[in-house]
Amino acid sequence: MDVTEVKRLLGCAAVDAYVRSGMRLGLGTGSTAIWAVRRVGELLKQGSLTGIVGVPTSSQTLMECQALGIPIRSMNDPDIAGGLDLAIDGADEVDGERRCTKGGGGALLIEKIVAYAARRFVVIVDRPKLVRDLGLSFAIPTEVLREAREPAIRAFAALGGRGEVRMAVRKMGAVITDNGNILIDVKFAGPMDPVQMEKELSLIPGVLGNGLFTRVRPTVLVGDAGGKIETLN
Ligand code: 5RP
Repeated sequence: MDVTEVKRLLGCAAVDAYVRSGMRLGLGTGSTAIWAVRRVGELLKQGSLTGIVGVPTSSQTLMECQALGIPIRSMNDPDIAGGLDLAIDGADEVDGERRCTKGGGGALLIEKIVAYAARRFVVIVDRPKLVRDLGLSFAIPTEVLREAREPAIRAFAALGGRGEVRMAVRKMGAVITDNGNILIDVKFAGPMDPVQMEKELSLIPGVLGNGLFTRVRPTVLVGDAGGKIETLN
């Protein structure tokens, strides 16, 4: 089974298992999470789900919701009031304690606001994303105010990380996030304490968010190449 099909199965499984009518739903970003968004759209269209309001975590997800007719809100709307019943998202890495690295798609800032505001967080990943230590095979993404670029890179170095500005592919220069900031991916040479590092990165002036998600322990659905899905709780 190809990896896209595994991602589709994961998105459907997460929605079928955890989404109920009337929920305030955080909708993640990426090539896996998009399948959960599509499943919500499909079930709304069929009428088997009703009364859902979704908070999209990126322009990718916003556009998909608009195309599918999923009612969208911001975290600040009165009928969301800063809290969600459930958030579903992908991840770049998950460790044995179900802590995650996110931000490969550059949407970590809103993804974290949404995940941390949800009563339940469900992460959908294919098995190769399970790792022993976060941040070794995947650099930790950070979203940084443009003016803070060089001070932030120096601050990352003081924490043992090498920061690299993420460059755009079909545009010259840096990737500019949905929020108008740059991304700096921080590579660590050896294992670090992700709980402590999430805090340390949050304290650097101008660093608006980082891709370490350690303060919520999600339910993780892990997809195998054969299509089997395992739930980690
Ligand atoms: C976007 C994210 C994604 O959820 C993460 O990068 C995983 O993406 P994919 O499912 O495409 O591998 O954090 O900012």
